Amino acid sequence: MSTQGDRDAGAAGPTGHRPPKLAAVLADITTLQVDAVVNAANRALAGGGGVDGAIHRAAGAATLRAACRALGGCEPGDAKATPGFRLPARWIVHTVGPVWNGGSRGEETVLSSCYRRSFEVAESLGAGSIAFPAISTGVYGFPSERAAEIAVHTLRSLRSAVVREVLLVAFDTSTLGYYRRRLASD
Ligand code: APR
Repeated sequence: MSTQGDRDAGAAGPTGHRPPKLAAVLADITTLQVDAVVNAANRALAGGGGVDGAIHRAAGAATLRAACRALGGCEPGDAKATPGFRLPARWIVHTVGPVWNGGSRGEETVLSSCYRRSFEVAESLGAGSIAFPAISTGVYGFPSERAAEIAVHTLRSLRSAVVREVLLVAFDTSTLGYYRRRLASD
């Protein structure tokens, strides 16, 4: 596993809120020992392919499907949590990314909201560490490099007294490269 980026850890403010350490890794997100993994789901939270399928299989498909059904769906840009069941992670935070439509339909704002809301939901559960997949960059077609910029920019703006570590999980080396470039820039 390859990591980068402890340069984001900063000084605590008066309330103990600080920027979490932000790092990029090349990994299957279902294997990570973190408190919360984020899932790139659909509005129905019905399971699917890609990282959603991998998370459902690893967590236990029938159990996770039942837990998701009880959540009653999720709007794009929002996030909702279930237990992690058989995953090493204690929680799964399901978020719904935008479907790419050329970029003029608010896709960037919705993607940024996915990162912020998932962070907030994980924080409210007491998660000290969170792993994010590259939301919307698979089936939903969001350009990977721009998505990496939005992920890093949004996560860098967040402060927490609870969340100490955020992992940006790439599933291919070009996405890892995009994350590394953004993390190395100001
Ligand atoms: N670990 C980490 N990342 C993964 C994994 C995995 N096991 N499997 C796939 N990925 C990566 C993909 O390479 C891609 O970069 O997750 C990123 C997001 O791709 P998708 O899973 O296709 O998610 P998204 O583009 O947000 O589309 C969501 O796909 O499967 C359906 O139910 C899901 O309808 C929803 C849609």
